[in-house]
Amino acid sequence: MCNTFKEWHTSAFLRLRLLVGLLFLLSVGANSSPTWDELDARTNPRWYDEAKFGIFIHWGLFSVPGYLSPWYQSYWQGHWEGPYGSWKQYDSFVNETERSNFAYQDYAHRFLAELYRPDYWADAFAKSGAQYVVLTSKHHEGYCMWNSTNIATTWNWNVMDTGPRRDLLGDLSKEVKKAVSPYTNRTLKFGIYHSLLEWFNPLYHHDMKNNWTTQTMVDLKVLPELYDLVKRYQPDLLWSDGAWEADSTYWKATEFLSWYGYNSSVAETAVWNDRWGTDATCAHGSYLTCNDRYQPDSFQERKWEDATTMDTSSWGYNRNATAQDFMSVKELIDQLIRVVAYGGNLLLNVAPAGDGTIHPLYIDRLMGIGEWLGVNGRSVYGTRPWSVCQTESDSNVFYTRSNESLFAHITQWPAESVLVLKCPHPSSRTKFRMLGLTEASLEWKRQMHTETSGFDVIRRFPDIAIALPKLTPDILPCHHAWVLEISEVENL
Ligand SMILES: *[C@@H]1O[C@H](CO)[C@@H](O)[C@H](O)[C@H]1NC(C)=O
Ligand SMILES: *[C@@H]1O[C@H](CO)[C@@H](O)[C@H](O)[C@H]1NC(C)=O
Ligand SMILES: *[C@@H]1O[C@H](CO)[C@@H](O)[C@H](O)[C@H]1NC(C)=O
Ligand SMILES: *[C@@H]1O[C@H](CO)[C@@H](O)[C@H](O)[C@H]1NC(C)=O
Ligand SMILES: *[C@@H]1O[C@H](CO)[C@@H](O)[C@H](O)[C@H]1NC(C)=O
Ligand SMILES: *[C@@H]1O[C@H](CO)[C@@H](O)[C@H](O)[C@H]1NC(C)=O
Ligand SMILES: *[C@@H]1O[C@H](CO)[C@@H](O)[C@H](O)[C@H]1NC(C)=O
Repeated sequence: MCNTFKEWHTSAFLRLRLLVGLLFLLSVGANSSPTWDELDARTNPRWYDEAKFGIFIHWGLFSVPGYLSPWYQSYWQGHWEGPYGSWKQYDSFVNETERSNFAYQDYAHRFLAELYRPDYWADAFAKSGAQYVVLTSKHHEGYCMWNSTNIATTWNWNVMDTGPRRDLLGDLSKEVKKAVSPYTNRTLKFGIYHSLLEWFNPLYHHDMKNNWTTQTMVDLKVLPELYDLVKRYQPDLLWSDGAWEADSTYWKATEFLSWYGYNSSVAETAVWNDRWGTDATCAHGSYLTCNDRYQPDSFQERKWEDATTMDTSSWGYNRNATAQDFMSVKELIDQLIRVVAYGGNLLLNVAPAGDGTIHPLYIDRLMGIGEWLGVNGRSVYGTRPWSVCQTESDSNVFYTRSNESLFAHITQWPAESVLVLKCPHPSSRTKFRMLGLTEASLEWKRQMHTETSGFDVIRRFPDIAIALPKLTPDILPCHHAWVLEISEVENL
């Protein structure tokens, strides 16, 4: 398998090159590309900002060994040392677990997804409160997770030809688009992750050697894949990656995105991230992801997304992860609150195994977040950051707002059950209500607060002191964090 695959890579690719290249030029034509500034000026569809919370799925051939990282092949065959270990670890792992002359490509025969239940996945994601789901269609190893059989350059390196012989991505897209969020009554949106670069693709290395003056990889592989994915599965979101070596002109990114965002069948709902070339990352796109686990610590004007993992050890299924590697529900809810208050979306990763199962630790965390959103969704979905006040003033409190109300997210229960807030300016009609409790509004009063430096009084100003309800465990509306809805605020 390995040898034939490699030979095929170097010979058949080049033979196909002329034919496919010609067809491609005929189909796309020589449109002049818009600039990034023109694309960035497009108004984002509202669904994306309103969604706040999505699920990322890293699933691929790397899920079969399920060892340390999706970068497995690169570390092992590329002799890498990096954040996911040393290549020697991977090499000795292969020596211990496989016969001699084992090749990475051989994992494809063992990728069966025999317990894959996309309906169960979609149901679990909906119950977590997520409003969109983004699956890896192709990671940097190049293996295609969809029915890419019309694209000759993906031959024998996709789920239909080798491995599960099932359209894994297509089946998930159907289930996700049918699933309804119990907390917003909206159907979930489906997004696709796609890696531009492929570590070991000879077409890519050919272009690299030519200092990106040739675009063989782009014309024969990347663009046909992107057009195919959009035409077949109508994704509402494209999450591009693998853009750190060449710029967006090489990838013909604006040409493609102008079709996706203006001419495709999903032009109205289409949203894309920023990783479309070295010049685009953290600068262009419908929203910014910048680096992995991007978490700015203040409000950002530009829409952004924190793409992150709950298993802190890996983006992929890692059989060597421990329970301690997983963030707690409390940590995840605090992070969601902070991200939303600062204007971002949280895209939280789930890493299924090669057999199609999702480890129950992932499901446990998802259900915990969903339980919280079931009570507090009003303070998250469709809200906006409250740019008036940030947490420096009211510690452990994060704000969001709707058209009528202010929401204060309390991430630590205050001493004596008295919450003191400096930011909101209440009117005589202001009411404080805790989400999830049916009780009337909470008692509150103004009190003077004195800020001092040494013995000097710098200023005196009024605070609001709110008496939080005396909650016993049986009547707690939720765990981990609590939300006050504040009405009739003068400085909303
Ligand atoms: C794995 O096996 C190969 C072939 O026997 C050997 O050359 C290599 O040193 C081994 N790797 C490690 C890390 O022991
Ligand atoms: C895969 O795509 C081909 C060509 O478009 C189509 O004929 C076939 O039915 C598809 N298979 C599945 C399982 O979707
Ligand atoms: C969703 O629909 C249910 C049943 O019709 C309704 O009770 C609930 O208020 C709706 N939720 C939202 C957020 O619209
Ligand atoms: C490659 O291209 C860059 C940018 O166009 C240029 O600065 C660099 O000198 C080129 N390198 C070679 C080896 O041609
Ligand atoms: C989009 O459609 C318009 C009008 O049909 C056409 O002029 C334009 O070339 C198309 N652009 C792309 C990128 O397909
Ligand atoms: C598994 O993870 C532990 C840390 O949790 C580490 O010490 C150990 O080296 C890892 N095992 C392998 C085989 O990588
Ligand atoms: C909030 O106000 C804006 C601007 O006035 C309006 O466009 C929007 O529809 C309102 N949203 C809701 C949910 O009422």
